[in-house]
Amino acid sequence: MKVDVLLGLQWGDEGKGKVVDVLTPRYAAVTRFQGGPNAGHTLEFEGQKYVLRSIPSGIFQGDKVNIIGNGVVLDPALFKAEVEQLEASGHNLRSRLLISRKAHLILPTHRLLDAAYEAAKGKGKIGTTGKGIGPTYTDKISRNGLRIGDIENNFQQKYNDAIARHKEILSHYDFAYNLDEIEKEWFKGIELLKTFTFVDSEHYINNLLTSGKTVLAEGAQGTMLDVDFGSYPFVTSSNTISAGACVGLGVSPRRIGEVFGIFKAYCTRVGSGPFPTELEDQTGETLRSLGHEYGAVTGRPRRCGWVDLVALRYAVIINGVSQLIMMKSDVLDAFPEIKACVAYRVAGKETNELPFDISEDVTPVYKTFKGWQTPMSSMTSESQFPQEFKDYLSFIETYLGVPVKIVSVGPDRAQTILR
Ligand code: GDP
Ligand code: IMO
Ligand code: MG
Repeated sequence: MKVDVLLGLQWGDEGKGKVVDVLTPRYAAVTRFQGGPNAGHTLEFEGQKYVLRSIPSGIFQGDKVNIIGNGVVLDPALFKAEVEQLEASGHNLRSRLLISRKAHLILPTHRLLDAAYEAAKGKGKIGTTGKGIGPTYTDKISRNGLRIGDIENNFQQKYNDAIARHKEILSHYDFAYNLDEIEKEWFKGIELLKTFTFVDSEHYINNLLTSGKTVLAEGAQGTMLDVDFGSYPFVTSSNTISAGACVGLGVSPRRIGEVFGIFKAYCTRVGSGPFPTELEDQTGETLRSLGHEYGAVTGRPRRCGWVDLVALRYAVIINGVSQLIMMKSDVLDAFPEIKACVAYRVAGKETNELPFDISEDVTPVYKTFKGWQTPMSSMTSESQFPQEFKDYLSFIETYLGVPVKIVSVGPDRAQTILR
């Protein structure tokens, strides 16, 4: 059988966690394939709210297997905090959560390096989540990383060598730090990690597929944060696109089935970098306050703007999206007018192709839609959709050439309309 991939088409925080939770009953297993605790995936059901960072969002649905794949970077201290929080709320994960031996460890010094690099960039900083993501992937690619599997073999020596190397790099930066406290927490995390099951997840997942099971791969971040195709250098350090699921899990491209592309009915971004449709006015403020657009991980206010169909079309192509999922349409309920960017004007010419550099003189060309001005959050079926919403939706489907199969009208699991 196949691996279906669900991933963000914008700059992250599209609502991936919520929809993975909703779709999980269809699958035997849910896996994360890239990113780490820079992610914050929110789920709401039965009046409770949970934010997951490294644990897949299928963890709350019965006895489904959840797997942290080889492409993920894991911080033991943050993982421990996440596990303890879930267990305190009565959710047992031990038997259901498996961790790839090939996943890389975020060391305490990776976090320090992340902070030192950001400080050195000054105004040009990326605005990272400060979780050590970039330095950990740097060590992976430069073949200096430590992996989960290393915990089982001569670990202290490997750790000491890595820390010594990082301290040497840090000595070149004007950056004060105290490693002792974070190191203590980190090793407590390692002890907790040892109580979980480590697996060769590429074998585990391929065995599931050959025995007729289907698997859902849960993306983190979004296409515009992809290290190759996003708004480089203001991106994360992994491949967030559908192809990332192959490398991040060890499955063949021939095994990829549906690609669910998820987007907000408007657009947000956290951190620095270009955002052509950003609204730095009252409309942007209204989107932020109605959409509660504050980071799930850092609490930072998210930058808000209209939906960018040029960027979305690019994301649809790069990922091979087969089904679209529109989130947070209810946030637009009160707007008398809604806009969608349908082209960019670059150097006097209109284009619908994403240019090399979207920070340079890109002016969005908008199409204006009449707002529906009807509350959508208690709707349960497509037949209740207001005509103005249908017009907005069908324009987007036609522009992107892919059907919208799910519309989300609120944060709760139940506020999800399948079409
Ligand atoms: P993720 O990182 O893609 O999983 O998304 P986040 O959890 O970071 O951000 C999505 C936010 O929107 C969370 O606070 C969700 O509870 C919330 N949310 C998800 N879907 C909807 C929706 O349809 N309507 C509204 N109003 N909120 C939603
Ligand atoms: P989820 O999975 C939104 C952004 C950061 C920063 C850039 C690089 O919840 O959608 P990093 O710490 O990865 O080196 O930061 O990427 N970023 C996210 N923005 N949602 C996320 O994850 C993000 N993960 C990283 O704000 O601009
Ligand atoms: Mg998020």
